[in-house]
Amino acid sequence: MTDLNGKVALVTGGASGIGRASALAFAQAGAAVAIADLDPANGDAVVREIEAAGGRAIFIATDATEEAQVSRMVERTVAELGGLDIAFNNVGRGEVGATIVSTTVEKWDWILATSLKATWLSMKYEIPVMQAAGGGCIVNMASTAGISPQISGSPAYSAAKAGVVQLTRFAAKAHAPDNIRVNSVAPGLTSTPTVEAWFTEEMKHAVTSRDQFTDRLTRPEEVAAAVLFLASPGASMVTGVTVPVCGGLP
Ligand SMILES: NC(=O)c1ccc[n+]([C@@H]2O[C@H](COP(=O)([O-])OP(=O)(O)OC[C@H]3O[C@@H](n4cnc5c(N)ncnc54)[C@H](O)[C@@H]3O)[C@@H](O)[C@H]2O)c1
Repeated sequence: MTDLNGKVALVTGGASGIGRASALAFAQAGAAVAIADLDPANGDAVVREIEAAGGRAIFIATDATEEAQVSRMVERTVAELGGLDIAFNNVGRGEVGATIVSTTVEKWDWILATSLKATWLSMKYEIPVMQAAGGGCIVNMASTAGISPQISGSPAYSAAKAGVVQLTRFAAKAHAPDNIRVNSVAPGLTSTPTVEAWFTEEMKHAVTSRDQFTDRLTRPEEVAAAVLFLASPGASMVTGVTVPVCGGLP
């Protein structure tokens, strides 16, 4: 049910964290993978890891908030890997400890651009390719910050991720007739390089003990497993949903 042999998958923000784990999971399931990211060093490292395991991957230097670069990202994926069956629109950025009052216009615009606009822009260029091919599958990156009853963290990030949830539903309804499924994942606090750099052990525990049933961080591989399921033939009747991957939302 998770066989992706012969498929082409694109992962934005695929050089690190959850994107990297998902790129590796797609490759292990048999897909050729395009890794689009700002970071060529880490992106190339993921390509080499996939190739060393016998898979096929390319790195595409991309700022997912820039329309011309997103358009080129999709064009290169199709030209170099032969199509686009699966897209994981994973890019997003947040901040820790912001309030409505302390949020600056610059921070608001940056978080909304990386966490919401980039998701829409990616779909804008992915969907026509999938329509022309007769179908496809998209997974967007939301967050528990966009769906949790525990409101905390960053207002811009919460608003952006809630936006991803509804954008996902919109795209799923609009493109069901095109045989394109669109879903999201909503991880809880996940042990990625960004989180490890920003959160002390005390801060991590405060979040996971308050916001989840299971008092530990999510592992990137646990999010990748949900992404892989949503992108796989086994999820053929699943569309328009956001799957929390956080050990239980209160
Ligand atoms: N880590 C968590 O606790 C957590 C929880 C819920 C949701 N998320 C979401 O998961 C996604 C990935 O987060 P992560 O923790 O794995 O991050 P990470 O920092 O480990 O990796 C993010 C990657 O995205 C790339 N990137 C950043 N901005 C980009 C841009 N404009 N264009 C292209 N690439 C860009 C970075 O270079 C990096 O390689 C984000 O959308 C984040 O909001 C993370």
